[in-house]
Amino acid sequence: MSTSERRQLKIGYSIWPTGHHRTAWRLPEAVNSGTTDAALLAKSIRTAERGLFDYFFIGNSVKSDPHSTRANGNETFKIEGYTLAGYAAAITERIGVVVTINATYSDPYNTARAIASLDHLTHGRAGLNVITGVAGSHEAAANFSRSAHPDTEDKYDWADEFTDVVYALLGSWEPDWLLDDRATGRFLDPAKGHRIDHEGKFFSVRGPLNVPPPPQGRIPLIHAGTSERSFEYGARYADIRFSPYRGPEWNRRYYDDIKGRLAAHGRDPEHQFILPGFTFFVADTTREARAKYREIQRFTTDEYLPHAVSDFVGIDLSSVKPTERVLDVIDPSALRPTLTGADDLAAAGNTWTIDRYTGNKLWAVELALEAYGGDEAVTFRDLFNYIANFPGNQAPVVGGGREVADWIEQRFEDREIDGVKVFPPYSEYPLEAFVDLVVPELQRRGIFRTEYTTSTLRDHLGLPAAP
Ligand SMILES: Cc1cc2nc3c(=O)[nH]c(=O)nc-3n(C[C@H](O)[C@H](O)[C@H](O)COP(=O)(O)O)c2cc1C
Repeated sequence: MSTSERRQLKIGYSIWPTGHHRTAWRLPEAVNSGTTDAALLAKSIRTAERGLFDYFFIGNSVKSDPHSTRANGNETFKIEGYTLAGYAAAITERIGVVVTINATYSDPYNTARAIASLDHLTHGRAGLNVITGVAGSHEAAANFSRSAHPDTEDKYDWADEFTDVVYALLGSWEPDWLLDDRATGRFLDPAKGHRIDHEGKFFSVRGPLNVPPPPQGRIPLIHAGTSERSFEYGARYADIRFSPYRGPEWNRRYYDDIKGRLAAHGRDPEHQFILPGFTFFVADTTREARAKYREIQRFTTDEYLPHAVSDFVGIDLSSVKPTERVLDVIDPSALRPTLTGADDLAAAGNTWTIDRYTGNKLWAVELALEAYGGDEAVTFRDLFNYIANFPGNQAPVVGGGREVADWIEQRFEDREIDGVKVFPPYSEYPLEAFVDLVVPELQRRGIFRTEYTTSTLRDHLGLPAAP
């Protein structure tokens, strides 16, 4: 297979106000002016475009949580997505621009109108990330005149109908609506715009949209979620699934599960991409990268909590001292899978986020040790710092450019992932280092583009032409 025919990585970039690691912003060199700093944004988005990324991803949050103990320094603040998308569109030429909306608190007409407008202003570079909000978390509801966040079934019933209406509106004008007939004075053909006359459980929408049909035809949809309903939603609608990363075994099984659901919807598994968030510590040398990771981990001020370590590993470690070495106490091979089938997992009361595919927490310990470079001297305090700063759905990867590229390539070739969504731990060095040290390695291996040869997000991703 020639280089040009090889399956290609998809790479997104997401900026968090003070980075995606909980304590890295405390570094003297970190730039913490975040997503309200137009100059920082311009520089970083252009860096991602210099790295030929597929898209710039704008995350979202509509809750107010000034006291969050999990918060990164500036995480409480999330600037409004379409506003940032318009700015990103104006300062770039080729990179895709993806906006996140929480469907639960959004209106389909406004959403279709905004994303169609963005698609026009970017000449077909817009993408829509649809999430539903975490069940049981009611902070956002209080900002939207609601008393509670809906449960999983209700919020996905809403999201399904919401998405159908958005895409019906986006398709409500035929492409040949424009007459521009100066002789007769007919500018557009009103017969080409169609009412959608939607009457559903949640929405009543007439249409058509008051924005011309988007250049991409069908705007790529991204989705993240953990429930069975999320998996079904993604199988119907998503072009990209934003996934967790929990180790090779877990992610291979996740990948097969997610892709295996597409055929029932008449979809090609090669046309949906699974991308985990990716936080990394990369430097010119392995030694430097590891030293930086250690330096950042040491900023952790949290009091050592034996129960947090016990929960994380899945065995009782309450009598262990923080100074003891992990490998003196835990034999990772003793944590090998004991549960296999879905029934076993359900009987054991495991939540899928941890154990759905592997039936143990070996992955957690392995990933932590890997982050410290396989260092035999990793103590329980180090492990606790890792947990305290754990980016939730990701595994931090630490190393020189070649090692980080090896990590990505191996998981890509093993069909655990189709690419990564780059979440730098802080601004600004890590993104620049990724572009300068990791991207050239990926290009050399023939798994990432060496120039933009396409101009729309659909085409960057290699999605088939819209039906
Ligand atoms: C990998 C991953 C990343 C996510 N990122 C965000 C995010 O940036 N903003 C957000 O509001 N929710 C985010 N979520 C939450 C989900 O989008 C979703 O709203 C939540 O998981 C509830 O859906 P569920 O009940 O299907 O799990 C993320 C979830 C996952 C698994």
